[in-house]
Amino acid sequence: MTEIPEHLLKRSRERRAALEGTPAAAPAESSDNVPATTASSAPAAPAAPSGPAPRTAAPEAAAPPPPKPDSPVVAAYRARRKVPFWAMAALALLPIWTFMYVRSVTASAEEATGPLGMGAEVYSNCASCHGGGGGGGVGYAFTEGEVLATFPNIEDQLRYVLYGTGAYNVAGVEIYGNPDRPGGPHVTGARGAMPGFEGALTDYEILSVVCHERFTLGGADPTSEMWADEYEHWCSEESEYFLELEEGASLATLHEMHDSVLPIGDGPAEGSPAMEG
Ligand code: HEC
Repeated sequence: MTEIPEHLLKRSRERRAALEGTPAAAPAESSDNVPATTASSAPAAPAAPSGPAPRTAAPEAAAPPPPKPDSPVVAAYRARRKVPFWAMAALALLPIWTFMYVRSVTASAEEATGPLGMGAEVYSNCASCHGGGGGGGVGYAFTEGEVLATFPNIEDQLRYVLYGTGAYNVAGVEIYGNPDRPGGPHVTGARGAMPGFEGALTDYEILSVVCHERFTLGGADPTSEMWADEYEHWCSEESEYFLELEEGASLATLHEMHDSVLPIGDGPAEGSPAMEG
């Protein structure tokens, strides 16, 4: 048997006193779980704050310490120039400005003369099948170098547009462009029938629309080493071939006047591969 501890005995005495209605029981109730020995030290607790503690706490509440000075980075951030109030208005006008800019550039292209200026208009004969921007439709796309891959030499494209798929079929020409075409050769009739434009358009109109397809739609860069020569002789405003055609020469006989021109001739022929270099 263990001995009943003193504090438990004390608690049971207090309980009994509470049940009997003795007023002295009330304070004992609150210290239910506290050992009896702490009861004597309890009154000391409220006295503790009356020591030096309030004196140190008070000044801190009354006068908060001055804010720390900003670090250089924060100071620079605070001192930066704010976005001016009119910036939002300027930004809001940006789309209008862009629209005006694009319009002015497009307008100047429309007014361009020479083969490219004329070609853009003649292209209305082709857009229904090849797309207004040359993106393709029934006929192949010209964009992103596609037409240049088929016809590395402009003469082969001129011949093809002159005579069309029907004449190539009759002549038994299976591949109408570069036989080594990157992405595979284009086989006559694989996509359908391309009309020949001999007689429907003049020879200089055919040259102009072919220039449009190669340089404006196809992406040939007139300033690049690869296309500068072709551009200068065939498609620039100073093109001597274009001038000669306007004056009555024909695409079929142009090579007789210029060693550098491949024979286009008066009928379909195999396409010539890309020249080395
Ligand atoms: C009636 C529709 C039609 C019209 C109009 C048309 N084409 Fe085509 N074109 C085609 C088709 C179809 C082909 C593919 C023919 C084939 O598969 O043999 C093609 C092929 C071409 C190609 C060869 C492209 C390649 O990479 O193989 C060129 C160049 C071309 N057309 C130029 C023109 C030009 C220039 C005009 C306007 C003057 C024009 N086309 C008008 C239907 C058309």
